[in-house]
Amino acid sequence: MKVTIFGTGYVGLVTGACLAEMGNHVVCVDIDENKVGRLRRGEIPIFEPGLEPIVRRNYANGQLEFTTDAALAVAHAQIIFIAVGTPPDEDGSADLQYVLSVARSVGRHLDRYAVIVNKSTVPVGTADRVREAVAAELAARGVEIEFDVASNPEFLKEGDAVEDCLRPDRIVIGTSSARAIALLRKLYAPFNRNHDRTVVMDVRSAELTKYAANAMLATKISFMNEIANIAERVGADVELVRQGIGSDPRIGYHFIYPGAGYGGSCFPKDVQALERTARAVGYSARLLGAVEAVNHDQKMKLFDFILSYFNGNVRGRTIALWGLAFKPNTDDMREASSRRLMEALWDAGANVRAFDPEAREEVHRLYGDRGDLVLCDSAYQALDGADALAIITEWKAFRSPDFARIRAVLKEPAIFDGRNIYEPAVVEEAGLAYYGIGRGRSVARSE
Ligand code: UDX
Repeated sequence: MKVTIFGTGYVGLVTGACLAEMGNHVVCVDIDENKVGRLRRGEIPIFEPGLEPIVRRNYANGQLEFTTDAALAVAHAQIIFIAVGTPPDEDGSADLQYVLSVARSVGRHLDRYAVIVNKSTVPVGTADRVREAVAAELAARGVEIEFDVASNPEFLKEGDAVEDCLRPDRIVIGTSSARAIALLRKLYAPFNRNHDRTVVMDVRSAELTKYAANAMLATKISFMNEIANIAERVGADVELVRQGIGSDPRIGYHFIYPGAGYGGSCFPKDVQALERTARAVGYSARLLGAVEAVNHDQKMKLFDFILSYFNGNVRGRTIALWGLAFKPNTDDMREASSRRLMEALWDAGANVRAFDPEAREEVHRLYGDRGDLVLCDSAYQALDGADALAIITEWKAFRSPDFARIRAVLKEPAIFDGRNIYEPAVVEEAGLAYYGIGRGRSVARSE
């Protein structure tokens, strides 16, 4: 089938590549000429495992094209996806200017029936606004062309995006138009070979489904972080509690890992946006507000541990950080917990020596050159001259380090483990102080 995708960010590029991989002829449009040029040369602007080979292969065989030409792109397809960003505006609600500008552009160029599909995470009611924007442009041109607007939210996880896209656990299609449903079912048929994963619903329910999914997942994390904070104070170990509750299938083992808070481009933004949506319709979403508040405080957890370990003063201290990206297998620093930690350390007069396998460039882009940040080439290099070590992102490479070596290098041997990747007893046996999230170890130390 012929498909056009507006936006070559995470969602747009992965979706475009995967749809091309399934045999469709996909045109990806972006207003950023530089980005389009890079993509045509086979340079992938994001770090995402498995993406590069499928982009290159499908670009080489003509199944995947990149352009800045919206007219050409709209003329190409019967299915037009909108996958541009919806960043939070000042009050936390989603900023729709990019989505609506694509809608206007589609309206300016549309010359026959198409289904316009929102893949971006957009507030409930956006499909209606897209429809109005397209209709207004058609009316300005004085033409009457039939079109539908559908919602087809994307549930991919960074780091697993290609896999999630090629093997989705569900495909939500939100529209009441039989014609649009038929087209989208046909497009997704190859993804549904063993059993039908399609859930068809009205457009508003589909829009809300995306927010509900992310808000539920964020809630699980904040809930566990709250339990961790209680565990710490009552002398319990949240890792045992986690295993104890996960065995109940109604709770499940997934997504109940306590840590230094959730980050990324979705959870923080979507929880806030849903809260604003609720408020706009006269409902106060108390749970969502609490999920956000717990996460906000949790991002300061490691800083609080570090500060109290150094008796309230870290001025002139150097802290080694392992991992900076908001989670492993990505270079994405959006809302990463490491940012709050580094900024708090700098404000308190401490220096940071950091290592991340992928995020180095991104961190440099964010913070530039500064005397209190050294970006290192290896995990052990980050330890040189450092007082203590904090882990913020659970990259696999950090899982079994040489604790004796860490102990020998650090001036004040302590590990602050923001993702609970180590066994406290093992670290302590190596002669290091250990602080995990909700593991009662900070309590143990003062005994
Ligand atoms: C998320 C959703 O998983 C995905 O379905 C949606 O489409 C977009 O948002 P992503 O932002 O890529 O995907 O990251 P995810 O793997 O979900 O992790 C989000 C954050 O939660 C990370 O900072 C991670 O460290 C944290 N997390 C996750 C926890 O702290 N504990 C957990 O148990 C799980």
